[in-house]
Amino acid sequence: MITPRSAATPPSSPAVRKAVVPAAGLGTRFLPATKATPKEMLPVVDKPAIQYVVEEAAAAGLDDILMVTGRHKRAIEDHFDHAFELEQALAAKGDTVRLDAVRDPARLADIHHIRQGDPLGLGHAVLCARRHVGDQPFAVLLGDDLIDPRETLLSRMLEVREQHAGSVVALMEVSPEQIHLYGCAAVEPSADAGVVRVTGLVEKPPREHAPSSYAVIGRYVLDPAVFGVLDRTPPGRGGEIQLTDALQELATHDIVHGVVFTGLRYDTGDKADYLRTVVRLACERPDLGPEFIAWLKGFVAALESPGHEDGETLAA
Ligand code: G1P
Repeated sequence: MITPRSAATPPSSPAVRKAVVPAAGLGTRFLPATKATPKEMLPVVDKPAIQYVVEEAAAAGLDDILMVTGRHKRAIEDHFDHAFELEQALAAKGDTVRLDAVRDPARLADIHHIRQGDPLGLGHAVLCARRHVGDQPFAVLLGDDLIDPRETLLSRMLEVREQHAGSVVALMEVSPEQIHLYGCAAVEPSADAGVVRVTGLVEKPPREHAPSSYAVIGRYVLDPAVFGVLDRTPPGRGGEIQLTDALQELATHDIVHGVVFTGLRYDTGDKADYLRTVVRLACERPDLGPEFIAWLKGFVAALESPGHEDGETLAA
């Protein structure tokens, strides 16, 4: 039973320390690359996508991270563990740069893993974290959404939770053609700049039924009340237990805010966006950028030159 709260309720929320990272999806959009490799381990330049997500959580002060994984996800566990032989070999060579790169993932936070068992949807994956999270607010970060490391979205969401209690979702305005790919929020203005009150949510609506152009992107700060709701949430869209459906119910009893994000987000679950992400981040890397950009310029010039469609070789 959820106790109704008014917007004027003084915040009583303890600091958020735990993050949940659902990582049990099959990654079918990237087959065959994801046949034996979890999609979360696909490299974005030279780090697996999921490491960016864990780094983002750690940068926002979350020091306890629970990965909700599935079968064939051993590589994720190994990545965030020590690699004894590799570390010894690098130490023996005095290769401290690579040694740090190998050790960093295990040092980011206390990382725990549980398995989802049956892939019953995102809501179910979050429900699997119930025992680990306990009666505390917590963050959820979806691995397909990379938020640029220079952004402070998650910290802002944690502030909103601290100020208002309840739950907080990240929202981004998208075009009507895109809204069916996301959870969509009905919103009202709030007194805080860049923050809205969420009055309803619907998972992947057709554009004619979308209550707004605000899409839910993969960052949430949730009140533990969500677990009780998820427990009785029936399968929704796609026959899966949807987190959006639980948040829709929560929004009718409790406070749900949305932080409107206008910064850089990369959808690495989409092939074209994945490629754009790798290129953009590679260009921005001081060690790779200058050489890569020079090559890229030549490549694009060759693409634009007349005749390349006739099979001319592009920039080497
Ligand atoms: C999930 C959520 C959806 C949200 C999206 C953000 O969908 O169910 O509400 O908008 O993540 O990336 P998925 O992309 O996993 O199908």
